[in-house]
Amino acid sequence: MIRIYDWKQDINVEELENVEKALKNGELIVFPTETVYGIGADALNGIAAKKIYEAKGRPSDNPLIVHVSDFEMLEKCVLNISDIERKLINAFMPGPFTLIVEKNSIVPNEVTANLNTVAIRMPSNKIANTIIKEFGKPIAAPSANISGKPSGTKIEDIKEELGEKVFALIDGGDTDIGLESTVAKVINGVPVILRPGAVTAEDIKNLIGCVEIDSHVLNEVSLDEKVESPGMKHKHYAPKTKCVLIDIDDEELRIEKINQLVKEDVCVIGFEKHKDKINTSKFFSVGESLEEFSKNIFSLLRKVDNWNCSLIVIEGVKPQGLGLAIMNRLIRTCEYNVISEKSKL
Ligand code: TXA
Ligand code: MG
Repeated sequence: MIRIYDWKQDINVEELENVEKALKNGELIVFPTETVYGIGADALNGIAAKKIYEAKGRPSDNPLIVHVSDFEMLEKCVLNISDIERKLINAFMPGPFTLIVEKNSIVPNEVTANLNTVAIRMPSNKIANTIIKEFGKPIAAPSANISGKPSGTKIEDIKEELGEKVFALIDGGDTDIGLESTVAKVINGVPVILRPGAVTAEDIKNLIGCVEIDSHVLNEVSLDEKVESPGMKHKHYAPKTKCVLIDIDDEELRIEKINQLVKEDVCVIGFEKHKDKINTSKFFSVGESLEEFSKNIFSLLRKVDNWNCSLIVIEGVKPQGLGLAIMNRLIRTCEYNVISEKSKL
């Protein structure tokens, strides 16, 4: 049986009690955050955390994010926070920001995949925050999707996939941001972005004075390479249908290239404002702005294999601000099949 709690308008107190009981019993829940939906369990219960890996089919070497409701709870999970780390925490939490820090031993090894660090995040979403606060303990949660699928941003996309495997799915409506949180780690005093998100490189630079973007954010990881974040090695978001990303800065040239690729059975994903300039009836809009692109792209990508086309051409964006997060996900969607400035025309 699939149990859905509709909290779009309000948090239901009785249902909240059921959720807490389920978490205490080591069961799983699907819950909204401001980025994407999470599939969560008691972060201090290794057996419960293991169930998350099973439900998602997630490789056991890929650690989970520990979600806290407040700074007091955060302190219990971490050790030896440096001044720069504290500055980042104070500035970007609660919010779409995850920091990798030294872990406290109360966080079980199942959650951190035996690393001595922990990924810590304080969601600003009211439902997520209330559940954690009422539960009184942190919740370990990766994105709510089967491993390799786009992260779930609406309950309709998640319920078939995970509904039978969790105690309840909590519907908080479509998630605001639509892409997962920024993951950062301070290395030798410099904040390094391991996964870009809505807290941008520019935001971090403005705060700390410096920032680095891990080279794997926009580049492929080779098999024998050592990476800062296990998630970088794993396959992400690639539909069965072949996709190509058009990474050309100049808008006119970009549209020209897309039009060159358009054929009978080719679909295009792009900005609404380019719909009339691209010569196809198989145009799927991501909206008007980077924020709408970010919010809509995962749900759209879940549908592309039903479009019965031979190729999907995806309009790229400038890899700045939120655009870096969008390009990081799209490059993987397209399995590094990118037409860039150099290969222009
Ligand atoms: O927005 C989000 O971050 C969502 C919501 C549910 O909070 N969660 C999410 O979790 O995207 P997940 O598991 O799909 O992605 C977590 C990423 C993975 O790439 C993982 O490898 C990395 O964070 N990670 C977790 N713990 C780490 C650690 N100790 N060191 C380095 N990377 C870590
Ligand atoms: Mg994920």
